[in-house]
Amino acid sequence: MKHDRLGDQPALVVEHLSKRFGERIAFEDLSFEVGYGEVFGFLGPNGAGKTTTVRTLGTLIAPSSGTATVAGIPLSAVNGQEIRARISIMPESPGLYQRLTVAENLECFAGLYELDDINGRIERVLRSVNLLDRAGSTCGSLSKGLRQRVALARALLSDPAILFLDEPTSGLDPVATHDVYDLIASLRERGVTIFLTTHRLEEAERLCHRVAILNTTLRTIGSPDSLRRQMFKRTMVIQLREPLDDPARLFGVLPSVERWERTSAATYELTVSDQEVAAPAAAEALVKYGAHILSLAESRHSLEDVYLQLIDEDVEAKR
Ligand SMILES: Nc1ncnc2c1ncn2[C@@H]1O[C@H](COP(=O)(O)OP(=O)(O)OP(=O)(O)O)[C@@H](O)[C@H]1O
Ligand SMILES: [Mg+2]
Repeated sequence: MKHDRLGDQPALVVEHLSKRFGERIAFEDLSFEVGYGEVFGFLGPNGAGKTTTVRTLGTLIAPSSGTATVAGIPLSAVNGQEIRARISIMPESPGLYQRLTVAENLECFAGLYELDDINGRIERVLRSVNLLDRAGSTCGSLSKGLRQRVALARALLSDPAILFLDEPTSGLDPVATHDVYDLIASLRERGVTIFLTTHRLEEAERLCHRVAILNTTLRTIGSPDSLRRQMFKRTMVIQLREPLDDPARLFGVLPSVERWERTSAATYELTVSDQEVAAPAAAEALVKYGAHILSLAESRHSLEDVYLQLIDEDVEAKR
């Protein structure tokens, strides 16, 4: 996909953006950037402000304060139309005409967006969501997962510079969910810039280059890997056949091991500063000691651990 990129400008630049509805703050003081070709995950609990952020950046509602640049254009009421021509939003509910066929729905929206080469576009987007064979089915006769694919096709019609997907897999069964993952992954391969809100941590972990965790304010931002590293020390789990007689003598002197504890009969968890130093040293010492190693592995924290830890801190702070 080719878009006129203004130099090296990011796809999205958000600075101190806030939105209030009367007394209620939907989101506050958001600052972040999203690069072209990036899949950016926007995570947060119900009511965190995800949809409102999408609606604000998508020019459907005006921010209360702060600034943003969307696809190179400053966010403002007068620029609304120009921004909307460069982006697409797939909302939480697909909003398709149930009695029209898939192709008729897409024709209708392509007309509304005043796009050229309507037939060529429809064929391209249907192919990219694997729905060419259902072009003639009415949307009402499709399963939820297939309707979601039509909604994605609709969002792709205008070849957007930024694609906003608001919980694209909500309410889908595991098979349909994985279908949508595959579609997003193929868009990612093609370099489409995607702003993805989700409750599914696994989805974010799998698809996103970087994620932001929002709970009215931005709690953290970074690649799933860097967030894990920031929040959790690395740990190594060692399972032996028999417990050690004197684990302190063995683990206490290993390089790069900061702490150790026994987590079950013959399982030990070591907090390490450098896994590449600690693992071979531990293995060597255990073998010398005559211990029988069943397994020795780094335990990985998931993005879900990071998320739960942060949201938990917010809950605690409110008490
Ligand atoms: N039009 C509106 N008028 C008043 N309050 C609103 C409006 N839209 C959203 N809000 C409030 O703003 C807050 C954020 O809502 P938002 O829909 O952005 O959350 P969300 O993160 O998308 O949640 P969910 O995960 O449930 O979709 C909520 O407290 C919500 O009630
Ligand atoms: Mg929402």
